[in-house]
Amino acid sequence: MKTSIKNIGVFTSGGDSPGMNAAIRAVVRAGIFNNLKVFGIHRGYEGMIDGEIEEMQSLSVSGIIHRGGTILKTARSKRFMTAEGMAMANEQLIKHNINALVAIGGDGTFRGALEFNKHYEIPFIGLPGTIDNDLYGTDFTIGYDTAINTAMEAIDKIRDTADAHNRLFFVEVMGRDAGFIALRCGLATGAEAILLPEVAMSIEQLIEKLESGWKRKKSSSIVIVSEGEEEGGALEVAKKVKEKFNEYDTRVSIIGHIQRGGNPTCMDRVLASRLGVAAVEALLAGKKNVMAGVMHRDVVYTPFEKATKHHMEISPYLTELADILAI
Ligand code: F6P
Repeated sequence: MKTSIKNIGVFTSGGDSPGMNAAIRAVVRAGIFNNLKVFGIHRGYEGMIDGEIEEMQSLSVSGIIHRGGTILKTARSKRFMTAEGMAMANEQLIKHNINALVAIGGDGTFRGALEFNKHYEIPFIGLPGTIDNDLYGTDFTIGYDTAINTAMEAIDKIRDTADAHNRLFFVEVMGRDAGFIALRCGLATGAEAILLPEVAMSIEQLIEKLESGWKRKKSSSIVIVSEGEEEGGALEVAKKVKEKFNEYDTRVSIIGHIQRGGNPTCMDRVLASRLGVAAVEALLAGKKNVMAGVMHRDVVYTPFEKATKHHMEISPYLTELADILAI
């Protein structure tokens, strides 16, 4: 399909994720390669409303592929969810003659795009930029690989000190209401138990696991707690376990935003680069309101409605693996 697209806007929105810069770079360079003008929109939908928009050149994205964060900055915009905010954003897009958008973010970003499109006509292509890996339509999101490696390294360090003191650690990792970070990190660090939002495990069942390790003289134990699991996080779980099982000296560690920063891994840089180019190609092919992702090694496009949260399921195979390997 031939399109009339000449000027595209690119922005990052929601929580940042390592690899967003590599994605911006790919969109800018693929756009210029295809004779388009590319505009960087700062601070996501907030900057769109306030007109924080500037044309980008190839040089604008030099030396950023290896950097975490996002040179365009990001925000979670409440104003964009109002009729007034959307009208202001639309005015700014018209003012800069932007006729297509590439949105790098998570489910909230794509929901915003869908809402905007109910009132104003402009094609969006989404790129999955979130550490949570909770979007359907891509095997991995941009930033997930870096985040799990960062968390894994932190947990390895906690294991050293846990072992030295014969302690039980409850380590909380991010992921909002999805357990992908927790599951992978738990597997990679040999955690004794992993608490996920998607899989119910009672405090009694958890204690059973810990007791069995204690009886077999395990010198330390690590429980990975996904921040969205139902007991209410690592502090709460630790408290409840201690009330009934107090054999180990116990500590809690919340890894937090360290998981969101740092230089992206090779996997994230390459994924972001592929998807950035795919986004521009999709716009030129006349696609709209779809997220570009990689599934089984191929680029695929998934409608925003389908890509947003809760369609991506945790692998029962991996949870079973974690159980087998934690005995
Ligand atoms: O979506 C990414 C994420 O890091 C989640 O894992 C986490 O729940 C949330 O963002 C934290 O958001 P904020 O940085 O706004 O506190």
